Amino acid sequence: MSSFWPLVSATLLLVGGRVEAALDLAWGDDSDLTNFVTRPEIRTPKFNVTLYEKERLSPGYWFIAPYSHIFQEKHATGYYQPCQTGPSIYDNTGELVWSGACQVKNQNTCDFRAWEFNGSFYTSAILTPFRDVNDPQGHGILLDNSFQTVGELPAPIRMHNLNMHELNLLDNGTKAIHILHEPIERDLSDVKPGLKSGWVMDIGFREIDLITGELTFEWWASRAGNISFTESNMPLRRPRSKQKAWNWFHGNSVDKNEDGDYMVSSRFTDTIYKISGKDGSVIWRLGGNMSSFDQDFAFSRQHDARWLEHTTDKEVISFLNNGADDVIQNSPQSAALIVELDKTSMMARAVKRIKRPDDGVTRMRGNHQVLKNGNSFVCWSENSYISEHDSNGDLLMEAEFASSRFVTYRAYKFNFTSVPAEPPVMKAFVYGTSPDAATSVFYVSWNGATEVSSWRFKSSDGKVLGEKQRTGFETSFQATGCHRGTFVEAVAVNGSIIGTSPVVTVIKPQEWDEEVEDAKLEASTVSPGNIESTVSDSSGVRTQHLSFSDDGLPLLLSSMTLIMICVGVWFWRCNSGGRSRIRLRSVGATSKVVDGSLA
Ligand SMILES: *[C@@H]1O[C@H](CO)[C@@H](O)[C@H](O)[C@H]1NC(C)=O
Ligand SMILES: *[C@@H]1O[C@H](CO)[C@@H](O)[C@H](O)[C@H]1NC(C)=O
Ligand SMILES: *[C@@H]1O[C@H](CO)[C@@H](O)[C@H](O)[C@H]1NC(C)=O
Ligand SMILES: *[C@@H]1O[C@H](CO)[C@@H](O)[C@H](O)[C@H]1NC(C)=O
Ligand SMILES: *[C@@H]1O[C@H](CO)[C@@H](O)[C@H](O)[C@H]1NC(C)=O
Ligand SMILES: *[C@@H]1O[C@H](CO)[C@@H](O)[C@H](O)[C@H]1NC(C)=O
Ligand SMILES: *[C@@H]1O[C@H](CO)[C@@H](O)[C@H](O)[C@H]1NC(C)=O
Repeated sequence: MSSFWPLVSATLLLVGGRVEAALDLAWGDDSDLTNFVTRPEIRTPKFNVTLYEKERLSPGYWFIAPYSHIFQEKHATGYYQPCQTGPSIYDNTGELVWSGACQVKNQNTCDFRAWEFNGSFYTSAILTPFRDVNDPQGHGILLDNSFQTVGELPAPIRMHNLNMHELNLLDNGTKAIHILHEPIERDLSDVKPGLKSGWVMDIGFREIDLITGELTFEWWASRAGNISFTESNMPLRRPRSKQKAWNWFHGNSVDKNEDGDYMVSSRFTDTIYKISGKDGSVIWRLGGNMSSFDQDFAFSRQHDARWLEHTTDKEVISFLNNGADDVIQNSPQSAALIVELDKTSMMARAVKRIKRPDDGVTRMRGNHQVLKNGNSFVCWSENSYISEHDSNGDLLMEAEFASSRFVTYRAYKFNFTSVPAEPPVMKAFVYGTSPDAATSVFYVSWNGATEVSSWRFKSSDGKVLGEKQRTGFETSFQATGCHRGTFVEAVAVNGSIIGTSPVVTVIKPQEWDEEVEDAKLEASTVSPGNIESTVSDSSGVRTQHLSFSDDGLPLLLSSMTLIMICVGVWFWRCNSGGRSRIRLRSVGATSKVVDGSLA
């Protein structure tokens, strides 16, 4: 792996230094991570979002795959916790919608995106090699819109892993394109006089039929006929072994058009190639030392070349001009480009250039997605820095992770609807001096659900306790009285019930329990802590505390606790009308919450 990405690896060391410096701050309080009562294991990075013109954003969700280190072995450092690394969906304001990190066992994920096939939504991703989960070669996955795996793409035989850069699905999900890499020995005397033999990391791609497993197309950069090693702008050092193979091409995206031709982006020849789907020959080159076009723009070390339009006379493509890698910098700042190729005059014109909003350079990774309404969604990668622009390039939104512990290889925005296979999760707590004067507090979430409009809380006998609009990944609700068994229904905009949680037993105050000491020994540490989400708009930062504080509960709770301590042991009496003596093993966190709010 280190031979394949020597440059990347060197850069990560540099970047790693920065990340760790920032971590020292971030690590202390974890306020940069999500924190849910219902899903304490989901500690996904939070976004800081600046919305400039919210109403002009394209509808859709962000598809992000946070990871802390591309070489997964490094994850064992303790800088990561479950569930953080893996595919994640956020809404248009940066609020978490789905964390798939636990589902993929925290395996580094690349190229996570959504598709619409046969009228249904799917997602796909590349899970990169990770020995800890016994997947040393990595593989591709296809999930349906309930997040169930419906397809897997193993790494190609012969190659030691599935290349992380691209998993492009075609023809309603019946075909896949992915990049190939393989060290081979070649005569390099054109590049270095006298070097009759040296190892090069050759790059190619293949298209396979996912139904039959048949290989429908395969192409290799050095074997296609007329791409020369001299096109590479990557210095040739001593390619004496497979491990030291010269990374001369470094392909990082492959697209296909309706004519059946392909477009390949090569970072180290600084060139985008159009490849014939008939014989693999180069139809045109854009950029680099041998461009087929006269260009009114320059680019280098680019990513993510995609067709927007193509006719016999004209082609329009989009890509991200990084303009730099970890060693060189050719452009003052990175930019998302749309360029028009006139095939009659062989002129290439930049019709749109969206510079990185903070004027920085994206030395590695990144992508540029042109959305259906003409907006551009751009991933500048580090910290998952993303931005959305209107068709004039004007900035509508920018966002990045609240801390610098994570990056994402690419980021996309897609329309998506999902009803997860797993049910909603609810936790219920009751507070008060006695069951007669109790308040119940409920938390509910449904990892990945996009269609919930409100939550309807019910006692186990079917009585409606109340309904509350969904407020984000997790919604809290309170009702007077205590109810031993409760559940919640997910209500869609059209009023239909699309999901139901299991009946949960309410967690009652320790003080209500007759055998307090005994219970303490078995105490679980469930604590309804503060749930914060930070959203800022252009006028400044607005912090929402979706917590007890908003409900004005802490003061009430603290006085109640004091009274409770004085009054002593109470009997548990819920819904039954009479006194029953049910002992709950889990212990409520009343005193913890009160302490927190008083401090
Ligand atoms: C994909 O599915 C849609 C809807 O079923 C259909 O209209 C379309 O022709 C399909 N496309 C291909 C390339 O099979
Ligand atoms: C879409 O429909 C086609 C034709 O029935 C089928 O072969 C294909 O597998 C479907 N796509 C997915 C992702 O299930
Ligand atoms: C490469 O091959 C194509 C197709 O045969 C041809 O059009 C092109 O001129 C060749 N390019 C070079 C640099 O030889
Ligand atoms: C290719 O172009 C780069 C600048 O883009 C230049 O530095 C390099 O020397 C050129 N290489 C060759 C072989 O012409
Ligand atoms: C995100 O916002 C928080 C709170 O305002 C701030 O402390 C933090 O530095 C921000 N993160 C970045 C990367 O700007
Ligand atoms: C998103 O998908 C849903 C479900 O297919 C559809 O009703 C809606 O119109 C789509 N929205 C956009 C902006 O494409
Ligand atoms: C109501 O909305 C849900 C979720 O979008 C959908 O699955 C269901 O089919 C809709 N029901 C009706 C009757 O339209």
